Amino acid sequence: MQIPSVFKNREALLQLPLSLINDSASFSIPQSLTLLTYLRLNVATPVKRAFQWMVDGMISSADNCLSFSFPSKLFSHLHLSKNAPLSPNFLQTAMAWDLLYSWRALALAVVTVALSALYSYQSGRSPFPATAPPVADEGVPILGMTRFFTNRWDFFRDNIKKSKSGYFSYWIGSHRMVGLSGAEARHLVFYNPDMNMEEGINLLFGGTTRRTSEGESFNGFFLRRMARALKGDRIAKALPDLLSDVRKWIGEMTPTGESAITDPFESVYAVIMQLTTRMVLCEELANDKAKQKSLVRWNEMVENSTTATTIIFPSLPSWALLTRLYAGTRIYLTFDEVIKQRQKGGNRVDDALQIYLDFNDATHDTVMLLTASLFSGLVNSGVNGSWILLYLAKDAKWRQMVMQEVRTVADKYATASESSKQKTLIEKLEDVPLEAWETEFPMTYLCFRETIRLQTVGSVIRKNSSGHDVAIGNEVVPDGAYTTYHLFDAHLNPAIYTNPEAWDPARYLPGREEDKSAPDGYLGWGLGRHLCAGMRFAKLEANMVTAFWMASFDWDVVGDELPALNVNASAAHKPQTPVKLRYWRRED
Ligand code: HEM
Repeated sequence: MQIPSVFKNREALLQLPLSLINDSASFSIPQSLTLLTYLRLNVATPVKRAFQWMVDGMISSADNCLSFSFPSKLFSHLHLSKNAPLSPNFLQTAMAWDLLYSWRALALAVVTVALSALYSYQSGRSPFPATAPPVADEGVPILGMTRFFTNRWDFFRDNIKKSKSGYFSYWIGSHRMVGLSGAEARHLVFYNPDMNMEEGINLLFGGTTRRTSEGESFNGFFLRRMARALKGDRIAKALPDLLSDVRKWIGEMTPTGESAITDPFESVYAVIMQLTTRMVLCEELANDKAKQKSLVRWNEMVENSTTATTIIFPSLPSWALLTRLYAGTRIYLTFDEVIKQRQKGGNRVDDALQIYLDFNDATHDTVMLLTASLFSGLVNSGVNGSWILLYLAKDAKWRQMVMQEVRTVADKYATASESSKQKTLIEKLEDVPLEAWETEFPMTYLCFRETIRLQTVGSVIRKNSSGHDVAIGNEVVPDGAYTTYHLFDAHLNPAIYTNPEAWDPARYLPGREEDKSAPDGYLGWGLGRHLCAGMRFAKLEANMVTAFWMASFDWDVVGDELPALNVNASAAHKPQTPVKLRYWRRED
């Protein structure tokens, strides 16, 4: 088959006029396979590029009316044109079903596995230099250290123990990895500019370096714009809306009968999503609960799609990859639609999207900004915001201290008028100014800080992309290798924290200050070059949600038991077994 020259360059393809695309991009089954083979032979990481091409093409198709086909009879000629447009949702659903349920897809998958395995094997694992930490003596051929995915903390703990320096080398697929521990390692991963965070994260998402349409590295581009969206004056301006969102949530949660049951990982998540949308996304979605719910679900699907298979065989059409493509596309299309509508209407809105739009970036880049904002803003705040209520349910002393704090602050700012005497605690909280929300809830913050220590599970990852080996102790992190540091190396370290698995906010109080007992002993917000960009907003959210909840309800845990700490998880997550709270209106 003659492959049109335009396919040699995906970017060029997407720029083509409609008619040309329609003529040249519609394939039958054998043609599709030939195209994949063609790409296999001509592109550096071919299969991955082919799949990316299909999905990117699909996304662009919403506007450009690009057409292409899928490798099975069922949808062998999907054709988009201006005259007969198909909905983008249909398209991507079609693609997922098509790939999953046709025998040809199965055959394609088998071929792709073989090619990917071969590719991974052939491209080979470069050996570690003699100066790198010793290679861990576990793992399976091709895949490498599977415990990194299945039992991450056990994997780190065992190998740290076995190694003299506390450092060890291992492979994941063909990627060279170095596991680290101790204070020097913390300093290296959080402060050393040779350790590239963005390239580390890219490994988890298929190994592709994310760039903007202008070719700029995505992380810096994103951080600069997000910093504008989270500036102090913006938070101050948004405060009344944020407060009204939380108040509305409390209204919706209030039991109609004596008590009610809720899963905090649904209900607290919902209010965190509302606040995240208000602060770092856009007004259109802040007023659309149904879309928010879908975004939470798709975001979760993307989070859960980082598996051994997607890292080691990023091009294999595994279930995880298809899920990621599906959910990622749904998120993309949702944001794309909002942007297009906003631009079409020509109206300006006072929100993060407007700040992003005022940079005049390409629409694709703005969509990616919103996607990254959602991803970084939701999970940690949602998980920790839910857990704090669970821990407080089990600790009467801290519950009482936090309650006292809420009353004190509410009363302090509600004394201005006579009518304030009749105000409920909730109404008084609505008068609390930003500065007080940020500085006058120290007990609440200690509870949050302690929750984060236990629930921010997993490892941080960086790539040494400095072009040279980087020394650590008497060993090196080889050029091009990834460093991994497990947060529990500090947070569950009995040399830093006494009885580390216990939830004990008093450990930070003067006199104990356990977090200061080792250099950089607390990593809950990151450090140095990678301090959390949303920390200020995350603290504010936590203070507001906890205070309003406390002012409204009493609660306990259904079944009485908290879920066990899942030390081996790869990232902050909802508990595997759902947990419920029973709650009722406060009497006082
Ligand atoms: C309880 C809530 C949160 C926790 C515990 C948390 C924790 C962290 C940690 C540990 C890091 C460093 C990661 C690393 O070094 O690899 C980080 C980075 C980051 N966080 Fe948060 N975060 C939270 C909420 C948020 C929110 C609400 C946003 C934005 C709305 C946000 C945006 C970011 C961004 C953009 C980075 C990357 C900074 C960089 O590239 O240097 N975070 N966060």
